[in-house]
Amino acid sequence: MKIAFAGKGGVGKTTLCAWLGDYLARQGHDVILVDADTALSLGQACGLEPGELPVPLSGREDLIRERIGSGYLSLNPDVSDLPGELSVELPVAAAEGVRTGRKRLLTMGSITGAGDGCACAANALLKSVLSHLVLQERSHVLVDLEAGVEHLGRGTVAAVDGLVVVSEPSRRSLETAARVGALARELGLPRQVLAVNRVVGEPRLPSLEGLPGSVVYVPALAGLTGRQLEQASVLGLDDRPAIDEVCARLITAMS
Ligand SMILES: Nc1ncnc2c1ncn2[C@@H]1O[C@H](COP(=O)(O)OP(=O)(O)OP(=O)(O)O)[C@@H](O)[C@H]1O
Ligand SMILES: [Mg+2]
Repeated sequence: MKIAFAGKGGVGKTTLCAWLGDYLARQGHDVILVDADTALSLGQACGLEPGELPVPLSGREDLIRERIGSGYLSLNPDVSDLPGELSVELPVAAAEGVRTGRKRLLTMGSITGAGDGCACAANALLKSVLSHLVLQERSHVLVDLEAGVEHLGRGTVAAVDGLVVVSEPSRRSLETAARVGALARELGLPRQVLAVNRVVGEPRLPSLEGLPGSVVYVPALAGLTGRQLEQASVLGLDDRPAIDEVCARLITAMS
């Protein structure tokens, strides 16, 4: 499956993306996690130390020049080798004897709507790689987006299997989620799940035009709140059974 995560800042997109990637790998599936956010926090959320993080593709001027060029830009470069070449392997912690899949991280940097000169070429390369991953890659692909889906390009958006719109249980956050959902639907991505994060129980949601109809509630985890001052990783929590249940529900809601 090819799944993208979107929503307002700080709502838990990176956390859910890291959890689902880990869950799928522990179930034996190969998965590529794609960090397409400027904050580049997916690697650390998955347990990498700052020094282990790969240089984002947006900063690889050599590759941008080689594949896209400058002046006349090549907008359809061959990028099929780049996911394998640039991704880093992430460890998968599973019980002994369990056959796990590969979990890899590809760090893209930000895709912006506008741009000139080098930024424009960088965007063209990022979009080509994302489009390749969504259209051709055999592994599961999970994309942690900056906010919405509008920078992905229509063809890529249409090929994504599902969108997880993450929100906090607050009116403002849900209004953003509704906007993201409506825009994604307009761009051809109707299969959407609303993940309402950090809830206690299952609160009744306001009815807002554009809000995905399928809802998965994600409990506030005291273990994560208590630990996040010390470490950025969101994996290896005692709450794994609750997290795995959330992941299973997300997959079911998307299928
Ligand atoms: N269910 C949860 N329970 C407790 N803490 C959580 C939960 N989900 C996320 N967090 C914490 O909330 C913070 C923000 O989460 P996260 O970084 O995933 O959000 P984001 O939407 O990716 O943010 P940004 O827009 O900055 O990329 C993190 O410190 C994370 O550990
Ligand atoms: Mg994030």
